[in-house]
Amino acid sequence: MKPWELLGQTRTPDGSEMSLTVHDNDEYVILVNGQTLMSSRTHGSEEALAASGCRHTATMRQPRVLVGGLGMGFTLRATLDLLPPDAIVTVAELVPAIVDWNRGPLAPLAGHPLKDKRVRVAVEDVGRTVRSHPDEFDAILLDVDNGPVAFTAPSNHGLYDNAGVAAAYAALRPGGSLAVWSASENRKFEQRLHFHGFTEQIDRVRARLKKGGARHVIFLGVKPAARS
Ligand SMILES: C[S@@+](CC[C@H](N)C(=O)[O-])C[C@H]1O[C@@H](n2cnc3c(N)ncnc32)[C@H](O)[C@@H]1O
Repeated sequence: MKPWELLGQTRTPDGSEMSLTVHDNDEYVILVNGQTLMSSRTHGSEEALAASGCRHTATMRQPRVLVGGLGMGFTLRATLDLLPPDAIVTVAELVPAIVDWNRGPLAPLAGHPLKDKRVRVAVEDVGRTVRSHPDEFDAILLDVDNGPVAFTAPSNHGLYDNAGVAAAYAALRPGGSLAVWSASENRKFEQRLHFHGFTEQIDRVRARLKKGGARHVIFLGVKPAARS
């Protein structure tokens, strides 16, 4: 077996070590403190996140979508493919090196999504983006950890607790949706979505695009539409 090659290394704002590795010029893996955050081999559920969260946006005029974080760009690519030409997609990414890697070796994996004119990149904590844009988005797609439990950075806990869910609700327009990627079920988080006014739904999706294999979970919370 060919060895893994280290393409880049950085520190997240909280001091965790993040690295980008490649094997056989084929499989790319992002690690945090030596543990796999994601691999380019499996991105079916990252794309399903966009399909779940943007179900209602394809026919909208000027939909506004927030994607947090960038990773390898698969969710961003799937989002762009679903949206009309006048959409605006903000991608919030905590780690500057991830953005650089997506403009470099990772760019072709998802068809250069950062080159799309509809994309705005915010190099910041997506929690900050959410809190500074009340009543702004038609969809918020979150895939920053391995589920609604902090993994990349301890401060990510604040995205999924009561205050975090309330902030996401406030950042959405009526009828908007919050979609959260997860490796596993989380009944508490489901209940929290409900508690904060969302109509919640769980989509169990394939980790890989082809049939068979593991399933991941997309938590979907839909904010009620405004009464006319
Ligand atoms: C699992 S990857 C995302 C994968 C992505 N959905 C894809 O399709 O490639 C998680 C990403 O979220 C970023 N991230 C982690 N915490 C964040 C935060 N609080 N705000 C913004 N980005 C964050 C990480 O640096 C990483 O790029």
